[in-house]
Amino acid sequence: MAQVVVNLLSDTVTRPTPAMRRAMAEAEVGDDGFGEDPTVNALQERVAKMFGMRAALFVPSGTMGNQVALHVLTRPGDEVIVEERAHLVLHEVGAAAVLSHVVLRCLRGARGVLDPGEVAATIRAPSPMFSHTALVCLENTHQASGGCVWPLESLRAVSRVARERGCAVYLDGARIFNASVASGVPLSEYAAEADALSFCFSKGLGAPVGSMLVGSGEMIASARKARRRFGGGMRQVGVLAAAAGVALDEMVERLAEDHANARRLAEGFASALAGCVDAAAVETNIVYADLGALDAVEVAARMAARGVRVYPYGPHLLRCVTHYEVDAEGVARAIEAFGEAVRGK
Ligand SMILES: Cc1ncc(COP(=O)(O)O)c(C=O)c1O
Repeated sequence: MAQVVVNLLSDTVTRPTPAMRRAMAEAEVGDDGFGEDPTVNALQERVAKMFGMRAALFVPSGTMGNQVALHVLTRPGDEVIVEERAHLVLHEVGAAAVLSHVVLRCLRGARGVLDPGEVAATIRAPSPMFSHTALVCLENTHQASGGCVWPLESLRAVSRVARERGCAVYLDGARIFNASVASGVPLSEYAAEADALSFCFSKGLGAPVGSMLVGSGEMIASARKARRRFGGGMRQVGVLAAAAGVALDEMVERLAEDHANARRLAEGFASALAGCVDAAAVETNIVYADLGALDAVEVAARMAARGVRVYPYGPHLLRCVTHYEVDAEGVARAIEAFGEAVRGK
């Protein structure tokens, strides 16, 4: 493989910025197992305020945020309604079944967005003959649909039908900052529709490690216990929280650049291979290109030979994710590499 100069594999490939590394080196730390890491405590308080929630808990990964939330908001044997291509269905290697013993009832969404009528009809009425439907999980932005943003009205409608029927709502907001920057909807308005929400510092925000779970005081107290149960309790983790703090200070507004780059990338791909992507539908930083009959692994390998890394997400599907380490020049280079790769060069 040629040297990678444009890495569109994921926004998780981002490396900490110099400011993050400085903050990490200088972070004041303590034992977070005893709740005594001042940098973690300050970050948790800051984030809870940003989202208009009572409390927050720093967790090692988005997957742990999802699984801790699921664990706290369900009991073994409960049902969880979730979109069929949600991260917690596709990419968490069965954790919901293994760790929380719940049944996932998957619904197909339109661009990841569930239909409130269908959610209402799927929630079971209390009965000794059926499982209890405890939770509705939503994902915003929706990764597998191409980083689609949930319209606030749709989120409100699904949340309303869930809550009216006694279900909790959990929002996997791994990329909620992308959603908020793209839509202009404040974080607190998304959070108001959920009983708990998590997001990642380690994706477009560029921090090396960490996610945050936000919720009520009681929910987060239970989450702290579940995090420990899952082995996610940490000690002098202020070194990571410090980088996450810099991510909030410096990396949020600029996500708009990633969105513009993704749109430009999609336009370039569509000119190179007609119909492979609807550029107008690209809202945030994720682009899927449908290669038709072409083999995604082969196209990705040809692009890699030109220094551009992309992810063969399916047999004929490529995924590209923009982030702060890909600039306009990188986008141009990726478009050129894609054009050559699909022409078989
Ligand atoms: C929507 C979504 N949720 C959760 C996660 C999990 O994050 P992590 O890789 O930190 O476990 C991801 C990761 O890509 C994601 O895209």
